[in-house]
Formats: sequence, C-alpha cells, structure tokens
Amino acid sequence: MTEAWDGVLVGAHLATLDGGAGYGAIEDGALGWRDGRFTFVGPRAALPDAPERLADAVIDAGGGWVTPGLVDCHTHLVFAGHRAAEFEQRLLGASYEQIARSGGGILSTVRATRAADEDTLFAQSLPRARALLGDGVTTLEIKSGYGLDLDDERRMLRVARRIGQSLGVGVRTTFLGAHALPPEYANRADEYVSRVCEWLAELHGEGLVDAVDAFAERIGFGIAQTRRVFEAARALGLPVKLHADQLSDGGGAALVAEFGGLSADHVEHTSDAGVRAMARAGTVAVLLPGAFHVLRETQLPPLDAFRAHRVPMAVATDCNPGTSPLLSLRQAMQLACTHFRLTPEEALRGTTVHAARALGLDDRGALRTGLRADFVHWNIDHPAELCYWLGGPLARAVHAGGHRLC
Ligand code: NIG
Ligand code: FE
Repeated sequence: MTEAWDGVLVGAHLATLDGGAGYGAIEDGALGWRDGRFTFVGPRAALPDAPERLADAVIDAGGGWVTPGLVDCHTHLVFAGHRAAEFEQRLLGASYEQIARSGGGILSTVRATRAADEDTLFAQSLPRARALLGDGVTTLEIKSGYGLDLDDERRMLRVARRIGQSLGVGVRTTFLGAHALPPEYANRADEYVSRVCEWLAELHGEGLVDAVDAFAERIGFGIAQTRRVFEAARALGLPVKLHADQLSDGGGAALVAEFGGLSADHVEHTSDAGVRAMARAGTVAVLLPGAFHVLRETQLPPLDAFRAHRVPMAVATDCNPGTSPLLSLRQAMQLACTHFRLTPEEALRGTTVHAARALGLDDRGALRTGLRADFVHWNIDHPAELCYWLGGPLARAVHAGGHRLC
C-alpha cells in the first residue's frame, strides 16, 4: 500500500481541464489528495489499490461530474449598501456615466463604505462571498476601491482577508485606490494619484496587497496617471491588472500589457493593437458579461481577435453594487455564452485555468496531481450544463485544499 492519503473520491466523471483544449474528461474517474494537494487524478481503474485501503475518508460521489474549484478573478464584493435606486434610474434612461458625473455611481458606494465600521462591512460582504462559494468558487479576488483614502482602503482589504479566513476560500486582494477621484481631491487628480502610490507602499508593507488595479477611463483615470500607479506597483514588485477599455478605447489594454500585466479586464472597446500587445505580453483578457448585461452594452469584446492571437480569456462576476450585482460565477459563465458566444468549454476554462492565470496562481485551476485539491462535485450529466441552467443549485459539494466547505 502507498502512503495513506487524506481522502479519495470515486463515482463521478472528471472534467480536469488539464491540457490545452477540451474538458480533459475522464469517465468514471477518481481523485486522491493528501496535505491539501492532489496525489492522484485519473480513471478509477488506475487507482493503485482499493479506495478504502488508500484513505480513511472515501467519498462515493454517486454520479455527476467533478471540476476544478472555480476561480472568480475579478470582484468588488466588499462594500456597504447597494445601488438599486440607480438601477431604476438607468432603466428610466440615465446612463452609468451620467450618474457617475453627477456624484452617484462609485462615489455613492464610497460614502456608504466610509460610514461602515469593519464589522459592519464584514457582515454585509460575507454573504456575497458565501453565495459565490455555494455555486462552486474556491478562490476569489477582492478589490479595494470604495474607500479612496488610506484608512478606508485598509479596512476593505482587511475585510477581504477576513472573508478568506472565515470561509476557507482562497482570497487574493487587489489595491484599487485609483478607482474614482474622491470629492476632497476634486480637480486635483494628479495629487490624488501621488497619495495612491504612497498608500500602496504602506498597505503592501502591512501584507494587505497581492496585486494593483486602476480604472482607466474617461470617468476614471488617464493613461499617464495609470502609468504612475503601475510604476509604483513595479517598484514594489507587485503585479498589475487594469479596468481597460470598458466604455471607450483609451489604450488601457496596451498599457497594462506594456507592464507585463496579469490581465486586462472588460476590454469591450480594445483595439487590434491592444489585442496584439496582450498576446505578446501573455496578458489574460478578463471578460465581465455581468457588467455588459446590466449596462445593456452592445459593443462586444474583440472575441475573434483574442482567439486568433491566442489571448487566454477568463470570465469573472465583477460582483459590485453598480454595474454587476452578480452573485454566481456560473451565471457569469452562462452570460458569457449567451452574450459573447463563448462555448461552454471556453467558459469553464475561463473560470478555472485562465482565471487562475489572471491571478498569477499556478497551483490551481485544473485537476492535476500536485495542484491544490480544490474541486466541486456537480449534480449534472454533462459539463455544458454548468453554462446551460440559469440559476439553481447544481453544486453538491465544494472542497478547497481537500476540506469540504459546503
Ligand atoms: O468593474 N468600472 C469600474 N468599476 C466597476 C464598477 C464599480 C461600481 O460601479 O461601483 C466595474 O464595472
Ligand atoms: Fe470591476
């Protein structure tokens, strides 16, 4: 008998996502894990011994499919309050940009978030993370960006870390101080960017920052200002990503690629030159169909160009109170298929392999020996069902690091 494993799962098919294309399907598969990592991924018939002799904890899944734990690589889920009234305003004809320019939008959530203490912020945000987990997410990124001063940004990042500890999911934090210009810096955007760079160094020193993001847009920050934030990140050895070309083509994708960025996100208006720059740099395109859907956008991201240039495409919820109040990554996959015509296989790769890459994580995103034992057992007959059902409870069990979370 080999060294004992902590657990073995049999009785389900596997979509390993291992290898460059396809689901990496293994019919009647088996998983083994020890110390939080997979020790076996393969057909049940290839197990080196009977399951009960390999581990004390043997799960007989009784059918269904197992996929890697899903990775939500772009969320803003730590915030206070909500913006349902803006949703109503937009349905009556106001645009996202108009609302932002009149002091609502992101700044409305900044006011609510600044007014909330850490426990309140945690209590309001935790259920959102729990909802993502319940639909299969085992790793998520959480951005700051509704504090816009040192103490309030710090509180958001601390809450993000607490969510990871409390739920047992992986959390990657992203500092998004350059999300909007707070009112106290009106007409002093360059000065605000200088503060953002100082806060970044301080918060990084406190171990609160894994990556750096900015909102490069007409209603956000200009390319020169974003570049300064990226230079500060580079000086600290932190990876960058960017809200790029969401409402207009501002050259954001090319900028983040120039810095060897992990990802360019939204990218509806990205030009061919931007796509080529991303391909050269290995920057992932993070598609956010929730925001596209809620804002009733019509400009599709350059999907064929991404495919032609082999730019990896990830899919994320963008969970936030303004443009994407979306609490299921599986639903984001569904929207990516219906709005962007991703194949269900592309959508699943986009929330596993490519999403892990968009976070700079090479220890997860597939079912493979040596990777983290993050996996979801789904109540489905075919992997495409993950993108087919609108809502509904499909996840039977969610494991992270070999531990069952729900
Ligand atoms: O990803 N575009 C900027 N940031 C968010 C929206 C944030 C908000 O409206 O609160 C986004 O769409
Ligand atoms: Fe976003």
